Amino acid sequence: MEINKQHKKKKWFLPLVLSLVLSTLLVFITVFTSSSSSSSKLYKTQVKNELPRFVESKLRISDTSKDPIPKLAYLISGSMGDGESLKRTLKALYHPRNQYAVHLDLESSAEERLDLAEFVRKEPLFAKLGNVRMIVKANLVTYRGPTMVTNTLHAAAILLKEGGDWDWFINLSASDYPLVTQDDLLHTLSTIPRNLNFLEHTSDIGWKESQRARPVIIDPGLYSLHKSDVFWVPERRSVPTAYRLFTGSAWMMLSRPFIEFCVWGWDNLPRIVLMYYANFLSSPEGYFHTVICNAEEFRNTTVNHDLHFISWDNPPKQHPHFLTTDDFQRMVASNAPFARKFGRNESVLDKVDTQILGCNADGYVPGGWLTIQGNTNVTVQDYIIANTTKLRPGPGAERLKRLITSLLEAEDFRANQCS
Ligand SMILES: *[C@@H]1O[C@H](CO)[C@@H](O)[C@H](O)[C@H]1NC(C)=O
Ligand SMILES: *[C@@H]1O[C@H](CO)[C@@H](O)[C@H](O)[C@H]1NC(C)=O
Ligand SMILES: *[C@@H]1O[C@H](CO)[C@@H](O)[C@H](O)[C@H]1NC(C)=O
Ligand SMILES: *[C@@H]1O[C@H](CO)[C@@H](O)[C@H](O)[C@H]1NC(C)=O
Ligand SMILES: *[C@@H]1O[C@H](CO)[C@@H](O)[C@H](O)[C@H]1NC(C)=O
Repeated sequence: MEINKQHKKKKWFLPLVLSLVLSTLLVFITVFTSSSSSSSKLYKTQVKNELPRFVESKLRISDTSKDPIPKLAYLISGSMGDGESLKRTLKALYHPRNQYAVHLDLESSAEERLDLAEFVRKEPLFAKLGNVRMIVKANLVTYRGPTMVTNTLHAAAILLKEGGDWDWFINLSASDYPLVTQDDLLHTLSTIPRNLNFLEHTSDIGWKESQRARPVIIDPGLYSLHKSDVFWVPERRSVPTAYRLFTGSAWMMLSRPFIEFCVWGWDNLPRIVLMYYANFLSSPEGYFHTVICNAEEFRNTTVNHDLHFISWDNPPKQHPHFLTTDDFQRMVASNAPFARKFGRNESVLDKVDTQILGCNADGYVPGGWLTIQGNTNVTVQDYIIANTTKLRPGPGAERLKRLITSLLEAEDFRANQCS
């Protein structure tokens, strides 16, 4: 048996070795003859695949809209007792092309918030066109705390999700008021690139380094049910080295691509900076400024202006000075599209309504979309909503054009970006 087995083994061993040698030879021949072409193919596909290896490179900034007339998305927020002025500002800003989110924070009473919700639901124009929404799940917003920024991002996310294809996001409060009609604004904005971001900013943080960047604060609004002021941690921290801090005005007009960058978070910068600003006093004066100026793809899109007329006391106090009829001329001469801050029922608002906006009896600003049938005393029900792309720009458009042209054509336009 043993011998037989060995014999059998020998019988198949030789052909096996031979076939192995032959097949190896064949493989070698095929590889060498086609080596030049196949290796270059291999190389090419590798190069092609190079770009999407990092998922970030697939998530490019989205294109801006091609619609000849832009659309705006507004957030108007307020707190306790702001309900009536919020309604007034909303009506003065209303245009069917735009999208609106209104928010009354948790400090305002349930009745006041219900009243606003009712108003948004029942107002015939809003009900008909459906472009005004109230943030019903109210946020607790701490003055000077990061909850102000989270509230702004919250509204921006809602407007991104259900506001359609708007071009710019504008954050206002109930104590702001427009100085141009929406027809003026849309007309002037239709002439400029949609990727521009208007925010006043500087890297020269000066006194803010010791009073804002080094202290560490905690905002109870992040975890508490009740409103209380921010409090300070005894330790101080150093100024960031991973990115540069920028500061400026808390009022801005931001492009849709930049809002998407901030809200969607495919790049970690907006998220990291947000967490940093969680412990920063007056974060609305720095968050968006620091993100935009540290993002290579956006710093070139900044225009160093906040589009507001704000009158600071001299020397500046924590709050700007309330505007009155004495400021009317300076307000108009500033060419700015918005002004703040106005007291509730301030009489200069009536002057703005009649002399600049031409508000109707209901507080809406007529334009190309809203045609009056003879009598200026008529209410909304008597109006006819016409073609919303038809704009009727007035003197406000001229003023705004002067401002925007002076900003975009300034010799130091580039030098003022993120410097
Ligand atoms: C947004 O609006 C509020 C007013 O409700 C304001 O206090 C805040 O600073 C604004 N800016 C930002 C960047 O959130
Ligand atoms: C921004 O502008 C500078 C100077 O004009 C230019 O060198 C740079 O390539 C631009 N960056 C982007 C991302 O467009
Ligand atoms: C503003 O004035 C009108 C009448 O002039 C009044 O009905 C309204 O209650 C006032 N609102 C506030 C917030 O004072
Ligand atoms: C408009 O209404 C006011 C009061 O509501 C009235 O005094 C005025 O005469 C009306 N004007 C017109 C043109 O009807
Ligand atoms: C609306 O007006 C614009 C500009 O005046 C015009 O191009 C468009 O065709 C109009 N659309 C409708 C539906 O009438």
